Amino acid sequence: MGCTRMTVSLIKWSLKRWFMIFCCLGLTSMTWMLYKLSSPSSRGHLDFVAQYTNPRLAVNRAPSTLPSGHKIDIDDNQPQPTVENKALLIHRSSRTYSSVTIALLYSRLKFDTVRYKGSSKAMFTKNSLQGQYSIIIIEDLLIYIDMRNEDKSLISEYCKVYKVGIIFFTLPQPRMNSIDYDFPLSFSSVERTVDKYIVNETEFADIARHGVGHDMNHIKDWVQFHPSKATHRTLAYGQTRDSHGIFSLVVLDLGLEDGVVKLFFGQKHSLWIHKILFLDALSFLTNGAMKMSKTRLIQIDIDDIFLGSSTGGTKMKAVDALELKNAQSVWREHYVPGFNFYLGFNGKSYKAGLEEEADGDVELIKQAGHFHWFDHTWAHVQAHKYNNLSKLVEQMELSKAFAKEHNITVSRTYSVAPHHSGVYPVHEQLYKAWRKVWGIQVTSTEEYPHLNPPWFLRGYAHLDIKVLPRQVCGLYTKNLNYSSYPKGPEALERNILGGALFDTVLYNYVNVYMTHQQNYGHDRLAIYTFNKLFELFTYATTLKLEGAPPEKLAEDYFGRYPEELQPLWLNPCDDPRHMEIWNEEKSCTKLPSLLVVGPQKTGSTALYTFLKLHPDIAANRDSPTSYEELQFFGSPNYNKGLDWYMQFFTDDSLINFEKSATYFDKDSAAKQMSSLLPKARIIVILLDPIARALSWYHHQRAHNNTAAISLTFSELVRGKNTSKSAQSLLSQMMKPGFYYDHIQRLRKYYSDSQIMYIDGEKLKSDPVRVMSDVQDFINVDTKIDYGNLLRFDKEKGFYCIVISNTKSKCLGSGKGRSKYYADVDSETKEHLERVFAVPNSYLKRLLIKLGVPIPSWIEP
Ligand code: A3P
Repeated sequence: MGCTRMTVSLIKWSLKRWFMIFCCLGLTSMTWMLYKLSSPSSRGHLDFVAQYTNPRLAVNRAPSTLPSGHKIDIDDNQPQPTVENKALLIHRSSRTYSSVTIALLYSRLKFDTVRYKGSSKAMFTKNSLQGQYSIIIIEDLLIYIDMRNEDKSLISEYCKVYKVGIIFFTLPQPRMNSIDYDFPLSFSSVERTVDKYIVNETEFADIARHGVGHDMNHIKDWVQFHPSKATHRTLAYGQTRDSHGIFSLVVLDLGLEDGVVKLFFGQKHSLWIHKILFLDALSFLTNGAMKMSKTRLIQIDIDDIFLGSSTGGTKMKAVDALELKNAQSVWREHYVPGFNFYLGFNGKSYKAGLEEEADGDVELIKQAGHFHWFDHTWAHVQAHKYNNLSKLVEQMELSKAFAKEHNITVSRTYSVAPHHSGVYPVHEQLYKAWRKVWGIQVTSTEEYPHLNPPWFLRGYAHLDIKVLPRQVCGLYTKNLNYSSYPKGPEALERNILGGALFDTVLYNYVNVYMTHQQNYGHDRLAIYTFNKLFELFTYATTLKLEGAPPEKLAEDYFGRYPEELQPLWLNPCDDPRHMEIWNEEKSCTKLPSLLVVGPQKTGSTALYTFLKLHPDIAANRDSPTSYEELQFFGSPNYNKGLDWYMQFFTDDSLINFEKSATYFDKDSAAKQMSSLLPKARIIVILLDPIARALSWYHHQRAHNNTAAISLTFSELVRGKNTSKSAQSLLSQMMKPGFYYDHIQRLRKYYSDSQIMYIDGEKLKSDPVRVMSDVQDFINVDTKIDYGNLLRFDKEKGFYCIVISNTKSKCLGSGKGRSKYYADVDSETKEHLERVFAVPNSYLKRLLIKLGVPIPSWIEP
């Protein structure tokens, strides 16, 4: 395809398109009439529609199987077994991401996978299928054919009891023709070219547009089904020009014979039309529980609008600028109402390059009012390279002045950083400069949490700026011409027709695409690509593509996924791309490799103090607000970001550690810790939870907590006072003591070899021994004898640090007060023993399993 062809006006393309649609519809409706006349199911179809749209069907399950007489008979008094809104995918492939898993992941649908490993291997037990799934997907029909009969029966039984349907994809192969199948449906593998693939069923097709013919000439093999009038419905069929006529390619088995509704696809999932139909199948078979909304918000950014190669010859010309405007208006009119190109400018490069390129820049400015503009920094600087805010502010002010001089209206709410630098990993100065100069509220990046795989891209918010995931569309600065597209033009075509770019529109509600100005000169690859993509989705689906301002995109995105507003800080050193855009002065080796997580009142300060005595181990600098504890994970401080956390660690030649006793029982802490510090070692201290509760109570009394002052320990524990402050205090006394639950959450994120459990009583009575074990656990190069550093202080009643032969330094007066506590009365004690009995027994069992010595305070 040459440049001239690519520059044909989009209006012409559009006229051609409407003409083609008109012809196709004519052909399709003729075919449809012929088909309806010849189809054995022409009457059954109406019955089917009436029955399958019955509103009494229980939500979240397959349409009820039809007893004979084709009547749905649901007894409203009979409780329907419930299922989770989750899919079960049975697959054969060892690939991590198959086409189906990508669809489920992108759509954020919950699912489990079971891998078929041959007919001799059992896949299920009765217990493994108990209402967890609202749909079963089998990636290849032959898996089911070859599966053990016991597994087939379990699946079938499950589907019948829970009224769950099955989706089968097929991989056509000769073996299919000789299979002794046990379905009430026959099928065969055929070598056949489909000239028109037509989605037939109006009630089934929701996202897929029914009645439109698609050329599938490139697929040579299909599985053809031979549906029977009474029990099957053809949902999509193929049409050939030759004498074979029409054949069924997607069939719904109503389950009249075996009680299970099944949907069969006569090809694999990755066929683009099947990707669309699969979404409809999920929605249909789960009675809408897995239905996707039809709106897709689209924004296309063009970064570096004036930036070109230093030798020239890469930038847009004046005619390209006009064609850009033209494309925008055609797309708005025909495919994407409200669509806008967002142009990112670097004023410094304005008019740089060859004469015709400078003319292109001038034309863009002339047409500026037709586009939306955002600041891409004056000199295209990478924010992470500048540690001072003023440099970034200065760059943004220059952009502002440029915009004023050229009369460009610039978005004050949206911006994109060159190279994604400073957005993620977060460079605080960029966020602050954005807020200060422009008041930016929304940006986008392809870096969170990682560039690949794209179906895991997510958004987050930081310092009041919402960061949207940004899609890569397969067009980079170097992609100028169709014929020289990497791996050939076919690769670009595949990208559009069912490939990675196609997936973004199909599965993402909000798409912000990254393109570059080079993609709009030369062959205008971006216009070609998106035009074809939009045309395909308009023709083949009922999706509503729409443009909207970035703030609306962000509102929609985070409205759907509010949990994403909270970011997850990852270790930049785990991703080479992140390292490229991380400030040189920041170093992962500074991050702590050891975390003492508490819980509070178990001796965590003593352990912290003793660890600091080791010459190779360093603690964080004190925080001005929470002193030695940074309380980063699981706490509001987490929102201050990685730069805030890292400032407390200064020496990366030592083993840095941090002690925050709040980490142990905070729900989100373990996940956040393991995301940033996956290799860290964790120390947990376990003290009798009753002693811990008492210590916390006295600690709060010492801090004048009103509930602690006005109520006795027994009154609180026995729930005598239901005031908010009493309940809150009681929760702090009790909750951390349910050790088993908190440890299990920790174990989800850290391996057992990374966690050390210290008996809090031993830490009091024999810290020298404990510190020896701790050094072994951390694997320090130089092991020291704490016997020379610690000595029991009779007056304090605890071990203290040796200062001289006669002097020692003990922990402050707020630590080690227990000898002054009044005894807990026996009734309260018994009550607490009963409360902690079960969790303690679980803990004991776990410690035995882990080979950890059982603390003396746990009942034998
Ligand atoms: P009490 O003050 O109730 O006796 P944390 O530092 O986690 O808040 O724990 C405080 C508890 O540490 C103290 O509770 C005390 O029992 C215990 N502890 C253990 N070793 C200690 C030591 N060497 N000096 C002081 N307290 C110690």
